[in-house]
This record gives sequence, structure tokens and C-alpha cells, in this order.
Amino acid sequence: MDAALNEIARALVAPGKGILAADESSGTIKKRFDAIGTESTEDRRRAYREMLFTAKGAEECISGVILYDETIRQTASDGRPLVKVLEDAGIMPGIKVDKGTTKLAKSPHELVTDGLDGLRERLVEYRGLGAKFAKWRAVITIGDGIPTQYCLDVNAHALARYAALCQDEGIVPIVEPEVLMDGGHTIERCFDVTRDTLHTVFDELFAQQVELEGMLLKPNMVVPGKANRTASPDEVADATLTCFREVVPAAVPGIVFLSGGQDDVEATANLDAINKRGPHPWEVSFSYGRALQAAALKAWGGSDANADAGRAAFLHRAKMNSLARYGKWSPDAENAA
Ligand code: 13P
Repeated sequence: MDAALNEIARALVAPGKGILAADESSGTIKKRFDAIGTESTEDRRRAYREMLFTAKGAEECISGVILYDETIRQTASDGRPLVKVLEDAGIMPGIKVDKGTTKLAKSPHELVTDGLDGLRERLVEYRGLGAKFAKWRAVITIGDGIPTQYCLDVNAHALARYAALCQDEGIVPIVEPEVLMDGGHTIERCFDVTRDTLHTVFDELFAQQVELEGMLLKPNMVVPGKANRTASPDEVADATLTCFREVVPAAVPGIVFLSGGQDDVEATANLDAINKRGPHPWEVSFSYGRALQAAALKAWGGSDANADAGRAAFLHRAKMNSLARYGKWSPDAENAA
């Protein structure tokens, strides 16, 4: 086992802590900014992320931040690189290294993730810029006759190639196979697809010699499709844990969930319900994008004058999810804070 990789992976899921996913691609961040009527310029993107990274006390709840290629090269208004702003606060910088999804050949309604070409060289560069961990997202869609095993296989193969390359270069891979919430499917269908997906992913990780002790898994929770209904936290926790106990080896130091379109409090309540059923073989934490940022983005509204309000909204969600890490969150905590 590579002790250095294991140490980073464990630090990312230290007690009470989780990850902020702030690695929206230029297209995705534009969508988020459109929703608050803010033009997505390089300066506004920097200002927004600088606001999040300078929230004092965040380091008690946030172990690491996933950055986008543009952000890892940007400088804060005080002249420090944004990477240094995070390091000075005791937060580890990470980097999204996939290049997004594209249509899967021969299966028009499924996706595969690009970005393996030149990946080793990019990892070397990102390591030089301070990245300690990386992320690659594969997307699995539930629909009529999909996902196909073919789609699970090619996405798992790419995830494992990425993860092996990361470990070769001393970077902890976050392996993210996301089964989308889009659609009207049942929670049982999500359970089956998530189990098959993770089974296929761990098969490939094993085949490609990825050390499980030196990685983190970033999956969806087992939930019904968005167009179907919302499940209770107890139902989500039971389904998710039954599924994960079957297919996620105990050697994996941590599971860091994505929020995937759950609303802020829902994502916190579900994580809390899962941890209330602990201890588990792995740390169970968060790597939320929208569920950590939605309130902060709204409070900021594109204006530096609102930076304090944005930071306060972000800190509140970070603290609520930190409580959920211990299974100590309650609806009352939302109001008491
Ligand atoms: P969400 O929590 O908004 O799903 O984002 C997490 C992420 O990094 C998706 O790749």
C-alpha cells in the first residue's frame, strides 16, 4: 500500500470533514451565473470562488476543494494564487481532470467521459500547481433499455485508467460514477443500476491494479428519479447502505457523495441518516457542489458587496454537513445556527 496516498485519502474524510466541489466547467458555471443574472466573465468566476475559499472557519468542515483548470491557475485579489489561499487555510486543493461527457458510439442515448489523452502529462503539471487529489466523473443514464452493460464497461474502464494514472503520479483519484436522478424511475431501479455500476467499476479497478486504500469513491445515493417522488432520509439510507455493503470493499477509506440535484437540506438530511446508522466499513462523507453552493451563490448575487453574506451562507451549509458527518444533524440545527 502507498502510505502517502492513503494518508491524503484519509485526511480528505477526516472526522467532521468533507469536500467542496467547485470544479464547474465554463459551461456549467455559466448556467449557474445565468440563474442569478450575472455575466460569466473570468473576473466574476474568480471573485465568486475567492469568496468561497476565504470563508473563515470553513477548514473545520471542509478538507479539500475540487478546482477547475481555470481556477487552479487564478490569483486572489490580495495577489496570492487561489491554491495558496486554500493551503494557507489548511484545505487541500484538488483538480477535475476529465474533459466532460460525449455521446457513446453505437448507443445514441448514453454517454462516455473524455480526457484520457495526455492525462499523465496533465497530472504532472497539476501536481506542480499543488493538486493533491483529482476527480473524474462518469455519467450513467437510466431510461428505456439503458444503461447497457456496454456503457457501464467503457465508463468503468476509463475510470480505472484514470485512477491508475493518478496513483502512478502520486495523486489520489476520486472515482465518480454518477447514476443520474433524471427520469421517473423507482428507487428499486436506482438500486439495481447503482449496484451494477459499482460492481463493474470495482472489477475494472481491480483489473487495472488500482490500490483501493489510496482512492475515494464519489457515488450517487440510491434515490428515486426526480420525476417520480422524493424518498424519506430513512428510506434513502436503508437502500444506499444495503447497496454499498454489497459492492464497495472495506479497503476504500471513504465514500464522498455527490448531491446530484437533491436540494441543500435534503442532501444533508440523507447524509445524516446514513451516518446515524454507523459505524460503517468506510467513512461516509460529502463532496457536494450544488448542495454546498446554491444558497451562497444566491446570497452573493454577483456582487462583491454581498461577499460576507455569501460566505455566511456557505459556512452554514458546511457546518450542517459537518454535523451530518457525525449523524448529529437535526432540522432544529438549521434554525438554531
Ligand atoms: P453536485 O453535488 O452538484 O452533484 O456536484 C458534485 C460534482 O462534483 C459532480 O461532478
